[in-house]
Amino acid sequence: MLDQGRVRADTPGCADQVFLDSAGSSLPPSVVVDEVVAHLRREAEIGGYRAAAERAEDLADVKAALGALLGAQPEDLALVESATRAWADFFYAVPLSAGDRILITEVEYASNAIAALQRARATGASVEVVPSTPTGEIDLDVLHRMLDERVRVVSLVQAPTNGGLLNPVREVVDLAHAVGALVLLDACQSVGQVPVDVHDLGVDALSATGRKWLRGPRGTGFLYLRPELARSMEPAALDLHGAQWAEQTGYRLAPDASRFEFWECSVAGRLGLGAAVRYLLDLGVDEVAAAVSARAEFARTELAAVPGVTVRDLGAHRSGIVSFTVDGLDPNTARDALADNKITVTVSGRGSTYVDMTRRGLDGVLRASPHYFNTFDDLERLVAAVAGL
Ligand SMILES: Cc1ncc(COP(=O)(O)O)c(C=O)c1O
Repeated sequence: MLDQGRVRADTPGCADQVFLDSAGSSLPPSVVVDEVVAHLRREAEIGGYRAAAERAEDLADVKAALGALLGAQPEDLALVESATRAWADFFYAVPLSAGDRILITEVEYASNAIAALQRARATGASVEVVPSTPTGEIDLDVLHRMLDERVRVVSLVQAPTNGGLLNPVREVVDLAHAVGALVLLDACQSVGQVPVDVHDLGVDALSATGRKWLRGPRGTGFLYLRPELARSMEPAALDLHGAQWAEQTGYRLAPDASRFEFWECSVAGRLGLGAAVRYLLDLGVDEVAAAVSARAEFARTELAAVPGVTVRDLGAHRSGIVSFTVDGLDPNTARDALADNKITVTVSGRGSTYVDMTRRGLDGVLRASPHYFNTFDDLERLVAAVAGL
């Protein structure tokens, strides 16, 4: 069981408001803020290079912590600035040519879909959408029929941005690997709120961010690559960290996933990410997942009982994202009215998950994403405020 008193004391931001946007950008615990601020101060004292050198061991520990979280080796991880950066770094490194096929799902995140469409346009490959089942998950039977040896990549979003669905991952991986396709998992909304183990899932690559469920700083993200790929893929862009300029007409790639990194980065941000991951490991991923799930289920049940409110979540298995609409009320107006009551939720608009939202006839949904630091009282306040809209 999580110690709610402790996690709330560690999260000063939750004291005088109801914060329900961990799917957007969560409230970091004090250890994360302290780590970031202390490092910025140290940079101001002795300069960025010496400040980074002082923390070399802690910087190396960031990947060790992430590896412990994901069941990965540190050398199979690349630290980047965002989930989108991580996703694109992998995707743009996959060789594509005319006739190749890229499969995405109905809940594909817009940035990924745009990248896929751009590369399809440039290479003559095609982008095809695998339909969902009536309950919202990727339809595995249809996926099976769509897969052939021309499919290069299957892009799967584990937890979509616009609702509580959790997609099956292992089943998709097994089907895709049978035809030699790569599976790129967007775990941006899952890492930090549900257990994610790259070996259990079998994915070829995984992208995620620091600022959401991990409660890390903004401007942090990471890419995991299957060990063989970390050692063999050539990134689309390189610098003197990802490769070595050892002869005038050639270069040597870094031996591991660090070839996907650039040299310059926010050192404070990385240290803060490390602190966030260590904080989570200390709490226990399973405890966190149970607490998030209990809060999200409570919110769904209570919101569904409010006249005029429709809970929009799909999926047999659910994440901590709770999506809903209020009859006759624009979601942006509702969000602002809740903010006036010191309740922070956000709106997921059609453009973020265009295919799914269009199919369901939705322009936008309100999104509440409770984390373990939220109390059930927080959720009762949300429900009462929504009822009063
Ligand atoms: C499912 C999903 N994928 C990717 C992203 C992009 O993450 P980032 O803004 O860190 O690039 C988001 C952001 O909301 C998301 O919800």
